[in-house]
Amino acid sequence: MTRILAIESSCDETAAAVIRNGTEILSNIIASQTDLHAQFGGVFPEVASRKHIEVVYPVIQRAMREAHMGWEDIDAIAVTQGPGLVGSLLVGVNAAKGLALARNLPLITVNHIEGHIYSLWLTEDAPKIQFPILNLIVSGGHTSLYLMRDHLTHEYLGGTLDDAAGEAFDKVGRLLNLPYPGGPHIDRAAQEGDPNRFRFPRAVMTDGYNFSFSGLKTAVMRETRNYDSGRLPVNDMAASFQRAVVDVLVRKTQQAAEEHQATAVHISGGVSANSEIRSAMVETLDIPVRYPPLILCTDNAAMIGAAAHQHYLRQNFADLNFDVIPSLQLDE
Ligand code: KG4
Ligand code: ZN
Repeated sequence: MTRILAIESSCDETAAAVIRNGTEILSNIIASQTDLHAQFGGVFPEVASRKHIEVVYPVIQRAMREAHMGWEDIDAIAVTQGPGLVGSLLVGVNAAKGLALARNLPLITVNHIEGHIYSLWLTEDAPKIQFPILNLIVSGGHTSLYLMRDHLTHEYLGGTLDDAAGEAFDKVGRLLNLPYPGGPHIDRAAQEGDPNRFRFPRAVMTDGYNFSFSGLKTAVMRETRNYDSGRLPVNDMAASFQRAVVDVLVRKTQQAAEEHQATAVHISGGVSANSEIRSAMVETLDIPVRYPPLILCTDNAAMIGAAAHQHYLRQNFADLNFDVIPSLQLDE
């Protein structure tokens, strides 16, 4: 039995979790800074790192307390090394190093994107998972397709050439005067809107599995100029924009899953919370489509602990002098 204390601070959530055997959540504490950044309409890096410093130890203590753990019960400390904001990553990494040194515990570094992928191992579907899996990661910073033939192996098939899906949701949210982050608000507005009122472009790259969302965002911007700001047809625009994103994601994911004969499609990252992405994928694909519960879609430390368990089994430990890597890639 392994018990891992995991820490995540790559963006604007300070999170800590205790995970048993890579699949059981003993505690999962998330201190979100969303309200703090909403006034800036996006994450303000300086403000984020200062807030992480303030809350990182209380969050870790709470994760230990809720899991009923003493330090002697913990086998390793895991932490997100990247990708993310340098100042934010440093807070989690320094806390993890301090604890590993003080408690003489092994340290495991985890790629944030690999963490999102492993959020699926924390669901009741975990025992059913078989390789190869097609992973679609859709978050604020990433939109990528990876073929996973085994644990900890990720073959990049394609991804966005410009904006990430979450970034497009957040930018369009701003155009529609919705609060930050735009994604959940667009999701909600779209449920009241007509997805066929505006025909926004579907940029489907013909070469392989790449995406592009910046043209779509520009098309929405152009359309908003036809209205006074108080009279924007917010619901119809949200629904039409969301339908365009979903169409593109579903088409590419389906193609890739068929070409590589994936046993299942796993969707993870913040945008996997989107209700239309979930339902459209399930309806269109004829293999199982799995996504995490909402609490594990957006950033959390439980997923970092789940990925760390696989590294632990391979004795993949880090030296105390490792650095954060803000632009860490997954398939390097
Ligand atoms: O994974 P995440 O928490 O952070 C990153 O690693 O980037 O993803 C955050 C992103 C934001 O862009 C947010 O707008 C989006 O996930 N998001 C959604 C929904 N919930 C969160 N996008 C669309 N529909 C949602 N329901
Ligand atoms: Zn994330």
